[in-house]
Amino acid sequence: MQIDNARRLFHFVAWTAIALAMMASASLADEPPRTKVRVRRDIASLALDGREIAAFRRAVKVMKSRPPSDPTSWIFQANIHSSADTSNPAWNQCQHGNYFFLPWHRMYGYFFERILRAASDDPDFTVPYWNYAHPSARALPEAFRVPADASNPLYAAERNNDAGGVNSGARLPASAVATSWLPFRLTRYATTDPAGTAFGGLVVERPVHLMSTMGAFETYHNLMHVLLGGEKGFMSDPNNSARDPVFQVHHNNVDRLWKRWLDQGGGRANPLHDRNWMDTKFKFFDENGKPVEMAVRDCLDTEKLGYRYDDDPPSWLQPRPLTVSAAESPLTQFAASKTQDVELGSDAPTRLTIELGEQAQAACRKGGALALLVEGIRFQKEPMVFYEVYLNLPANEKPDFQSVHYAGNLIFAGIDPCAHARHLALRAKKSHKEAEAARVDSLRAFDISETVRELRARGLWHDRQLSVTLVMNGLVPVNNAARTGPGLKAHFERVTIAGR
Ligand code: C2O
Repeated sequence: MQIDNARRLFHFVAWTAIALAMMASASLADEPPRTKVRVRRDIASLALDGREIAAFRRAVKVMKSRPPSDPTSWIFQANIHSSADTSNPAWNQCQHGNYFFLPWHRMYGYFFERILRAASDDPDFTVPYWNYAHPSARALPEAFRVPADASNPLYAAERNNDAGGVNSGARLPASAVATSWLPFRLTRYATTDPAGTAFGGLVVERPVHLMSTMGAFETYHNLMHVLLGGEKGFMSDPNNSARDPVFQVHHNNVDRLWKRWLDQGGGRANPLHDRNWMDTKFKFFDENGKPVEMAVRDCLDTEKLGYRYDDDPPSWLQPRPLTVSAAESPLTQFAASKTQDVELGSDAPTRLTIELGEQAQAACRKGGALALLVEGIRFQKEPMVFYEVYLNLPANEKPDFQSVHYAGNLIFAGIDPCAHARHLALRAKKSHKEAEAARVDSLRAFDISETVRELRARGLWHDRQLSVTLVMNGLVPVNNAARTGPGLKAHFERVTIAGR
């Protein structure tokens, strides 16, 4: 009896083991080989003298030592992004001002990282990210500035020297880096309205290298370029930006924030229904210098590309993407401030008023989509400062970007400084369509739907009048150094409120 039971038990165990082994091998055979998933880490968590930074330095040094004709060299790769030299068709590919901005830069960083990994000789190497939104991480990470000489492959002398200098620890201001919550509020990835606002940018039929209609998140990212590069540095000039190794850690953060935006759910989704976006392919080079191609649809899951970020939530926590309806009517303009020549460039706040007529009042009451447009922007030299924009800020109240009055930052990067003059000339000639396109190239739009709702809820909204205040901000100086940014003047014509 006892022996019988033992035999039965033995059979049961043996067969279960065999069955489990068969199941395991069957599922192994069915599944394609898994890509190894490496982790991209916050650079603040890496030791300055640790293995990762050493590998990063080694890799950049090796790439810089290669001749510029080699597709895996530092200069060739930087030129793929953008260059004043247009002699090679593989160069000048970066996507700006349209809805390919995020996927193009993801692919670029992916292939760049493969080249760096091979050059580093460390099979686990990944490029870290710089989380400048963190209050203790707003100065350029030390790896890029210590030591501050050519012995450090991550160092570049070509950085913003204002306010004591980025290389000496001048910090990014809070409102520049924390504005992520503004574009993050937006739920729409793409827009078909050039004056509209969306997280990811303007819908275009085919890729365009550099356009001036920036998506809300791209605008947020532009400010880091401006503040790190300053007047003469690499980062603020698209043609040179990827020559500064800091480009890599900035763009990894941008890539990571794209995922954090999606994580919020609430209808936020990539435009998966848009075949044009999904099927468009871009060309790069792999670590062997071989040309490769990738379609947008193949870069959307970063684990398939073999990487994740150290703060990615586990996949079972990620919301299922909802597809947002694509239909969107254009914005209608409701009211505008007086048309005049407004000059920016001093520390004193600039204040304008918009008288709200019947139509505007009704639109604001309705609580639908509302945008504030700063129109007719022009300048001789692009200002390396930015302006915080406030609605209904009381005259005696200190501007605070964490207050309900804050509507976003006015940033000049990407604006075509001649578009406004072109707009006026075309309008005089009655070429309406072209004049409208030029108008759009000289404006910046802010989604203020939420801000207006909040102001109303707190009794800070006035039915007939809206006041708009612009306050200059820039790098936080190191060692009490002076900020010279105010010397750079800019002009605009008016602010308007539009909605649907
Ligand atoms: Cu193509 Cu941050 O730049």
